[in-house]
Amino acid sequence: MSDQKSDQIIEDVKDYYGKVLTTNEDLKTSACCPLDAPPEHVRPLIKNVHEAVQEKFYGCGSPLPLAAEGCTILDLGCGSGRDAYILSQMVGENGHIIGVDMTDEQLSVARQHIGWHMDKFGYKKSNVEFKKAYIEDLKTADIKDNSIDIVISNCVINLSPDKEKVFSEIYRVLKPGGELYFSDVFAGRRIPEPLQKDKIMLGECLGGALYIDDFRRMLGAIGIPDYRVSASRKMTLDDPVIEKMAGMIDFYSMTIRAFKVPLEDICENYGHVAYYKGTIDQCPHAFTLDDHHIFNTGMPVPVCGNTANMLQETRFKKHFRINGDFSTHYGPFDCAPSTPTNQGNACC
Ligand SMILES: C[S@@+](CC[C@H](N)C(=O)[O-])C[C@H]1O[C@@H](n2cnc3c(N)ncnc32)[C@H](O)[C@@H]1O
Repeated sequence: MSDQKSDQIIEDVKDYYGKVLTTNEDLKTSACCPLDAPPEHVRPLIKNVHEAVQEKFYGCGSPLPLAAEGCTILDLGCGSGRDAYILSQMVGENGHIIGVDMTDEQLSVARQHIGWHMDKFGYKKSNVEFKKAYIEDLKTADIKDNSIDIVISNCVINLSPDKEKVFSEIYRVLKPGGELYFSDVFAGRRIPEPLQKDKIMLGECLGGALYIDDFRRMLGAIGIPDYRVSASRKMTLDDPVIEKMAGMIDFYSMTIRAFKVPLEDICENYGHVAYYKGTIDQCPHAFTLDDHHIFNTGMPVPVCGNTANMLQETRFKKHFRINGDFSTHYGPFDCAPSTPTNQGNACC
């Protein structure tokens, strides 16, 4: 994409989120609205977030990671800070949340309420900071290599004119064993150029939606050949003009998790068996990794080598016992077909 076209996209997006929209009531479609109710444990945390922050929430999912106590979390395109303030409660006073956004109007709402939330959560000092930067260049926000436990993002990466750069920055800043956990709009085919440039299609998170297999390729190119889907829904657009423009393109709202751990491009069987200990506060009975892995407490679950690494090379390690190693290969792990609702590349 030419620099000129990228600059225009950036300016159009800033204008949309800084000036065109004043609250989420102004959205034309449901693309930037979550399709599902937030998880039960998150609902009381949302109630603690200031109304002015909530009314400028434009996210499309709930990329709010469990087992995050004490973690440093980076929120790309944090907007007015709703997720940042929910995460502030989830990581506790010793954790740290960094929100990054490029739009002054959004950052201003986020920053105005730092003290209010600190008091509300009963913290002696705030664990949240907001930085103005482009998500394509996190060095300008002074985000160091291997410094972040979890990167989250809620309906933002579709808006970037240079998604390869965003993913490579994410990989750079994640610690080994760190996780990218994000919600976004994806498309069932590549978006034609005129729609990519249309200000409303773009601003409503549709024009820049990534074709799901191009996303898989991009992630593979930065060193993450397997990712997991934790939620996926086909979207309805609810606006006749936009529906007409979109034509036959299917859009999906998806929440994805991808780990910076050693992975293979398909699931391989080394005979690993995983046992969940039931020790994550919100899930005493079962832990859900993705749309096809639910670990009941204490129950043995055969897993592929990739899943074993997602559980034993990450912050989940202390919550699992994994039997087995990589010394003997038993062939490919039996995989489910990849579909829009089960889009992991490797999909055991
Ligand atoms: C759809 S809103 C989502 C905001 C927030 N995540 C939420 O859930 O409310 C998109 C946000 O991403 C920001 N954004 C878009 N492209 C960006 C970029 N290239 N760099 C930094 N911020 C960006 C916009 O300024 C806007 O605040």
